[in-house]
Amino acid sequence: MLENVFSRKPEFEIVTMSADDCREMSELHGQRFARGWNDGEFVNLLLQQNTYGFVARQTNALLFKPSLAGFVLAREVAGEAEILTIAVQERLPRAGLGWRLMLAAMREAQARGGLSMFLEVDDGNGPALGLYRKLGFEIAGRRDSYYQDAEGRRSAALVMKRDLG
Ligand SMILES: CC(C)(COP(=O)(O)OP(=O)(O)OC[C@H]1O[C@@H](n2cnc3c(N)ncnc32)[C@H](O)[C@@H]1OP(=O)(O)O)[C@@H](O)C(=O)NCCC(=O)NCCS
Repeated sequence: MLENVFSRKPEFEIVTMSADDCREMSELHGQRFARGWNDGEFVNLLLQQNTYGFVARQTNALLFKPSLAGFVLAREVAGEAEILTIAVQERLPRAGLGWRLMLAAMREAQARGGLSMFLEVDDGNGPALGLYRKLGFEIAGRRDSYYQDAEGRRSAALVMKRDLG
C-alpha cells in the first residue's frame, strides 16, 4: 500500500495563478534565472488588469499544498500578447509542463482577444527555443548583446512570434 504511494507517477494540474503563489514563483524564478524577481514584483504585475498567469501543481502528492512545479506569466494588450516569464522546476525537465503552461497562456490570450503572441529568449537557451519552436513560434527579430550572465558574457535576445488563431 505505502509502496504505491511512494512510487506513483506525479500528476499535475494547470490552474490560474493567484497572489498566494507569488512567493513560490519568486523562489523558482531565482533558481532558474540569473536576475531574480522578488514576490512584490510578481504581485504588482499580477495586479495589473492585462496580466495573467498559470501555475502547475502536483495533484497526487502526499503534501496538502505541494510545491510549485512551474508557472507562466503573460500579458495581453490590444490584440498583442506577450510571455513575461516562464519557468519549470529543474528537477522536472521534459515532463511536458512548459508545453502545458504555454498552451494555457496562449488559450487565455486568445480568449482575451489576442491575435498574436510575442516572447523574448536568449539565443543560447536550447530548451526554451526547442519548446517555442515546437509550439510554432518563429524568430521575428534579434537584439545583439542583450543579455549578460554572472560572468559578464553577453548573448543575443531573439524575439519570437506566433499568430493565435
Ligand atoms: C524552458 C522550460 C520552461 C521548458 O520546460 P519543460 O517543462 O522542460 O518543457 P516540456 O517538457 O514541456 O518540453 C516541450 C518541448 O520543448 C522542447 N524541449 C524541452 N526541453 C528541451 C531540451 N532540454 N532540449 C531541447 N528541446 C527541449 C522539446 O521540443 C519538448 O518536447 P519533447 O520532450 O516532446 O521533445 C524549462 O526548461 C525552464 O524552466 N527553463 C529555465 C527557465 C527558462 O529558460 N525559461 C524560458 C525563458 S525565455
